[in-house]
Amino acid sequence: MEKLEQLYEGKAKKVFKTDDPELLIVDYKDDATAFNGEKKGTIMGKGVVNNRMTNHVFAELEKVGVPTHLVKELSDRETLVKKVSIVPLEVIVRNVAAGSFSKRMGVPEGTQLLCPILEFSYKNDDLGDPFINDDYALALGLATQEEIDTIKAYTRKVNEFLKGYFLNAGMKLIDFKIEFGKTADGTIILADEISPDTCRLWDVETNEKLDKDRFRRDMGNVEEAYNEVFRRLGLA
Ligand code: TMP
Ligand code: ASP
Repeated sequence: MEKLEQLYEGKAKKVFKTDDPELLIVDYKDDATAFNGEKKGTIMGKGVVNNRMTNHVFAELEKVGVPTHLVKELSDRETLVKKVSIVPLEVIVRNVAAGSFSKRMGVPEGTQLLCPILEFSYKNDDLGDPFINDDYALALGLATQEEIDTIKAYTRKVNEFLKGYFLNAGMKLIDFKIEFGKTADGTIILADEISPDTCRLWDVETNEKLDKDRFRRDMGNVEEAYNEVFRRLGLA
C-alpha cells in the first residue's frame, strides 16, 4: 500500500492518504504534549510502543465484538486503517479517581469508584476539550442518540476487556480515553489509539504510575514506563 500525501498532522500522529480512498496510513510520532499542547516534549520510542500496543489491543477488541479501524500494521510506527470521520467526543472511562476528576470532585487520587464512570468531552482544542453530557452532544449535533447508545455500549465493553487485560499484566486500569469514527456508510467503529498516552496504568502492587502522567507531572523515567508496559504486555 503506497503512502501518498499527508492529510493531517496531530499532536502524536500523522495521517496519510493511500491509493485506496477508504484507507489511510497513520504514522505514530515520539512527540508528546500535555495541557492542550502547552507542554511539549519527546518520549523516545513512544511511537513504536503506541502503534504496536494499539494494534494488539484493537485486534483483541475485535474478537470480543468491538469493531475498530485497524486493517494492518505496516511497520513499527505505521498502520493501515479504515478512513473515518472522527466523532468529536472524547469518551473517558474512570474506574478509580485520578486526574481532572480528583481535582473537580475533591476526591483523592486512588479512591476506588463504586461503579465505572463514562463521561464525554467535546473534542475541540480551541475550547480545551470541555466536559459535556449527552444533551450537549445531541443539541449540538455532535452525535445522534443511536450513535451515543452505540458508543456507550462499545465503551463499556472496552473497559471490561481492558481491566482484565491489564490486570493480567500486573497493572490497574485507572481511567482511559477513546475516540470513535464513522465510516462512509455511517457505521461507528473504534478509532485513534489505546496506549500509555491515553490510559492511566498503575502497578497493581505499588501503584507506581506507568503512563503519560510521568511526562505530564515531570516524574522522570518516562521512556522506562512506556517500555515496561510494552514488556509486561508481552510485546517487547
Ligand atoms: P483527565 O483525568 O485529565 O480528564 O484524563 C482522563 C483520561 O483521559 C486519562 O487516562 C488520560 C486521558 N486523556 C487523553 O487521552 N487525552 C487528553 O487530552 C486528556 C486530557 C486525557
Ligand atoms: N495530549 C493532550 C494535549 O496536549 C493532553 C494530555 O494527554 O494530557 O492536549
